[in-house]
Amino acid sequence: MPQFKDKRSQQILCEKASCSRESQIAAEIIKKIIEIFPNPVAIIDRDGRFREANTKLTSLLKIDKSKLAGYKITSVIKAAGKQLFTRRFLDDLFAEAVKKPIKAEVILGDRISAEASAHALSFGKDAMILIVFELLYKKDEILTLIEKQTRDLMKDVEKLRSIFEYSPDAIVVTDLNGTIIDCNLAMLEMHHFPSKEEAIGRDITELVSPRDRKMLKEDLKYVLREGSIRNIEYSFLTNDGYEFPVDFSASVVLDAEGNPRFFVIETKDIAERKIMENKLKQYSEQLEKLVEEQTRKLREAERLAAIGELAAMIGHDLRNPLMGISAALYYIEKKLKPVDDEKMKEMLRIIKECVEYSNKIVNDLLDYSKEIKLELENADPRKIIAEALSQLSIPENIKVINLVQAEPRVKVDVNKMKRVIINIVKNAFDAMPNGGKLKIESRIVDGMWKLSFSDTGIGMPEEIKEKIGKPLLTTKAKGMGLGLAICKRIVEAHRGSISVESHPGKGTTFTVSIPLNLN
Ligand SMILES: Nc1ncnc2c1ncn2[C@@H]1O[C@H](COP(=O)(O)OP(=O)(O)O)[C@@H](O)[C@H]1O
Ligand SMILES: [Mg+2]
Repeated sequence: MPQFKDKRSQQILCEKASCSRESQIAAEIIKKIIEIFPNPVAIIDRDGRFREANTKLTSLLKIDKSKLAGYKITSVIKAAGKQLFTRRFLDDLFAEAVKKPIKAEVILGDRISAEASAHALSFGKDAMILIVFELLYKKDEILTLIEKQTRDLMKDVEKLRSIFEYSPDAIVVTDLNGTIIDCNLAMLEMHHFPSKEEAIGRDITELVSPRDRKMLKEDLKYVLREGSIRNIEYSFLTNDGYEFPVDFSASVVLDAEGNPRFFVIETKDIAERKIMENKLKQYSEQLEKLVEEQTRKLREAERLAAIGELAAMIGHDLRNPLMGISAALYYIEKKLKPVDDEKMKEMLRIIKECVEYSNKIVNDLLDYSKEIKLELENADPRKIIAEALSQLSIPENIKVINLVQAEPRVKVDVNKMKRVIINIVKNAFDAMPNGGKLKIESRIVDGMWKLSFSDTGIGMPEEIKEKIGKPLLTTKAKGMGLGLAICKRIVEAHRGSISVESHPGKGTTFTVSIPLNLN
């Protein structure tokens, strides 16, 4: 506390302090008194500004009590008849020209009629006016007010009802025992109920799959305790017994006293979401497989390319020595006299055969590795087959049946197609060491020329069938495993394909498909 020069000034200051403390106490008391006053009450100052008002008044005027000091009384209370709260009126009042309280009709806030009685108050220099309002509801005013409020209320109720009814999520209201007392349309649809009557009165557990019923009981207990629960996955049941997955949320509704009254349960059908999730999983698995498959194919392609290069190299390098051997053989044969050793002649024949076989291998290798350039021409399919067959010696115990017609013509590289036919037919002969039948026929399916070769041979096991057309695949002692690989390359160059069907012990059918409109 600051020090003062003399005792007198200190005394005056103390008096002032106690004075302002007293007026503060008085103000508090006034505040309390007007608050417990049964009528709306206001205290205003000489300028018509609010000093105090009780809650009854502020709620009628719809103004915030903490912002009261900012309001002038004329901005919220209007005189119904005579002029009230004008500057002059206020001045007169304070000049005590008016000795008894003034009464006047006023309108509070929007439209509430009241009788105001104003009393001049003076606290020493501080002069104020106490105004007590008596509400004057007129009968028709009350009726319109009630009507309006009822209409507003009904609108709100209707709005809420339609939000409830048409919500895309299923909503069920149950009492605290779980008995259904209301539900919306989405719920009826979700559970295949024909009408609300069918659903109302049932126990909520009937809507839930038996294995989730225990969980539901626990969850509702939790809701009762904590107020709500959100997004739990449940398995629900339709009225006709189908299970479906849902996303489940529930909350408890309290009455005005804060006692729990109902459960509101909201469910979303997530079957579609689940399907999408599963699909996504499947897709990603498929994608993984595809990537694996492509990687494998790429490696295989690399390997094949390497084999191709090797084939070209070997084919090329072996060609010259083979030609040398052939020429030497020709010279020796010429020089030999007819009387010469029979054994020698036999040896020469073997050398010749081996050279021919080696030549075939070299040609196959070159064919396989060579780039294929087609020379397309319109050709008679029956003739192609016949010419190819004429280049082969058909074993006596095998019967070849050529059912291929001359029409329609096909646009192919005739010489290359003959190579395909020869390779396939030779394989069929190899597959029928004890004789049999080879049927060659053709048909047109969806714009494709389909040429098939059916033999009655040994057939092939699944593991060979899967790999058919790959180079160096052979089951034969003297095989190279390049025949079908060359066929495949030629047919693919015609934008076609080769398929195979085979039954071990019964026979095999190779089908070559080539598009008819090849350009
Ligand atoms: N008509 C067929 N019947 C049974 N197996 C066959 C037939 N054609 C081909 N194969 C099988 O396919 C393999 C590969 O044939 P190919 O590529 O012509 O090579 P190669 O004839 O030199 O063995 C053969 O070794 C054989 O096992
Ligand atoms: Mg072959």
